[in-house]
Amino acid sequence: MKVIYDDILEKMCSANNVVALTGAGISAESGVPTFRGTDGLWSKLKPEEMANFDAFLRNPGLVSEWYKHRREVTRIAKPNAGHYALVDMEKMFPNFTLVTQNIDNLHRRAGSINIAELHGNIEKNYCLGCGRRYDGEDIDGPFRCGSCAGLIRPDIVWFGEMLPSDQWEIAEKASESADVMFVIGTSAVVYPAAQLPLTAKANGATIVEINMEETPLSGLADASVHGSASATLTEIVENIKENIGEKSK
Ligand code: OAD
Repeated sequence: MKVIYDDILEKMCSANNVVALTGAGISAESGVPTFRGTDGLWSKLKPEEMANFDAFLRNPGLVSEWYKHRREVTRIAKPNAGHYALVDMEKMFPNFTLVTQNIDNLHRRAGSINIAELHGNIEKNYCLGCGRRYDGEDIDGPFRCGSCAGLIRPDIVWFGEMLPSDQWEIAEKASESADVMFVIGTSAVVYPAAQLPLTAKANGATIVEINMEETPLSGLADASVHGSASATLTEIVENIKENIGEKSK
């Protein structure tokens, strides 16, 4: 079954520079909650009380416990077929950049390599006092640095904070030169990440959106597939392989 029109498939098959921008939707089928929507995290918790620097300074124990809980959820979760389809894509295209807003580490665990993590990674932490890294460690107890007793914070982007400039530069550059951009499982409302498809489109890229629902990007996308990320990406990868296979016969 083909989930996209032939002209878009042709563009995918001849693409050199491909970007996939992912959001929480790709990990929903792995059991990691999304942010918006009826069951989303932000329907139960106020971001301003959990996901910003002042909240952390006011109550580091509470905020750190919340991230500890989220780390437990993401560690139990397993990458799904959508994550693995993107690993396949990285091998299929000459230049493939995976840009993710997710902090759940599932793309890395699936095997993707060329990743720009715009909002950080829940497995990474650092000391606010001396910068000592606590990557991959369980931040338990008093959340204090073993070297300087400073507060240890998760290395993720909170509301009001800048994105890591090196990751943003990779994402922006890749978007500017993309032939095709897949926008997968994101509500496309959080900037500056939501700017990337607009940048790609303005520079001539074909935009393929994969989402269960309409988003503000849907009207601008060259193809907008309403379906689950795992099933749709699996189909797309198969379609590309078949198309390339037929041509080489
Ligand atoms: P959202 O929760 O805003 O959006 C998730 C999107 O995934 C929605 O558009 C859903 O329709 C879609 N979706 C859900 N399940 C899906 C599935 N199985 N297949 C395909 N699509 C599916 O999450 P993000 O767009 O990632 O930032 O949110 C962006 C940022 O807002 C997050 O990185 C986070 C949050 O505040 C920070 O914490 C800095």
